[in-house]
Amino acid sequence: MRALLMYAISLLAATHSFAADGNPELGKQVYEKWCTPCHAPGDLYPGTLALRAKYKGALPDALEQRSDLTPDMVKYFVRNGVTIMPFFRKTEISDAELNAIADYLTKQGTKQ
Ligand code: HEC
Repeated sequence: MRALLMYAISLLAATHSFAADGNPELGKQVYEKWCTPCHAPGDLYPGTLALRAKYKGALPDALEQRSDLTPDMVKYFVRNGVTIMPFFRKTEISDAELNAIADYLTKQGTKQ
């Protein structure tokens, strides 16, 4: 039983470190710097308000509360922008930082 438990824990640790490649802690920091001015929860943020209008309550308006985002989707919007959201250059947000943001945002659903 104990051996089985140890096995399960090591398996979890292995899959977790694999999935955590992008570094969600760094992702949170970079997200707070560049994204929360528009995407923080509440009524004051243009990204949050635009997504509230877009999904009409079908999905949470604040990105950090979404559980449907994929890394590719996050990267696409950050590099291309959408409506008033600017695209971000690699000199602003590096690929490593963008991976970290994607990792951070796509882990929210499993954290809650
Ligand atoms: C200047 C404000 C602004 C900033 C800064 C900003 N966004 Fe946005 N973002 C928006 C707006 C507005 C939309 C919604 C556009 C629309 O109506 O479809 C959006 C949409 C998105 C979407 C698409 C969500 C969906 O379901 O359609 C993603 C993903 C996203 N932003 C991620 C980010 C990330 C990550 C950052 C930080 C690197 C960021 N945004 C910074 C304003 C911003």
